[in-house]
Amino acid sequence: MIGIYPGSFDPITNGHLDIIKRASKLCEKLYVAVLINERKKNFLPIDEKLELIKEATADLENVETIMFDGLLVDLIKGRKIDCIIKGLRAISDFDYEFQMAQLNRDMNKDAETLFIMSSPEFTFLSSSAVREIYAFDGDIGDYVPDCVKNKLENKKK
Ligand code: PNS
Repeated sequence: MIGIYPGSFDPITNGHLDIIKRASKLCEKLYVAVLINERKKNFLPIDEKLELIKEATADLENVETIMFDGLLVDLIKGRKIDCIIKGLRAISDFDYEFQMAQLNRDMNKDAETLFIMSSPEFTFLSSSAVREIYAFDGDIGDYVPDCVKNKLENKKK
């Protein structure tokens, strides 16, 4: 099975990494796809997001990081991808993810979405929470891969 795990990854967290590691065991090949989305103000530039994901997943041989713009279903059309992988943290994620999965399948009948339940220790974790802790000089070390922590700490120097 070839999977694609899309997201903003602004920045990648240990919660994302947990889903990537578990999905990479299910898939022979897993693409981590970072949305470029220039209409939205990003915390990290796209090339830094990409580099950090590559570094955090360097030991996972079947994982490839790519970037994309536009609709996810259009990206999938051009590639042999069997499923979209999404992480579900809590019921609060469900409504939005259910809508996205239905819409994607409506636009492309082959776009199946598989959900992986977040590990309990990451149910509270999000990139926006990490950004806020970082902005107020809190310790993000428990929530992000080391490469992200180092990169963000260096930005403050
Ligand atoms: O990490 P996020 O921000 O929850 O990821 C959201 C993402 C990137 C998966 C989603 O916004 C997406 O797929 N965007 C691409 C545009 C698209 O295909 N939207 C779905 C139909 S409205």
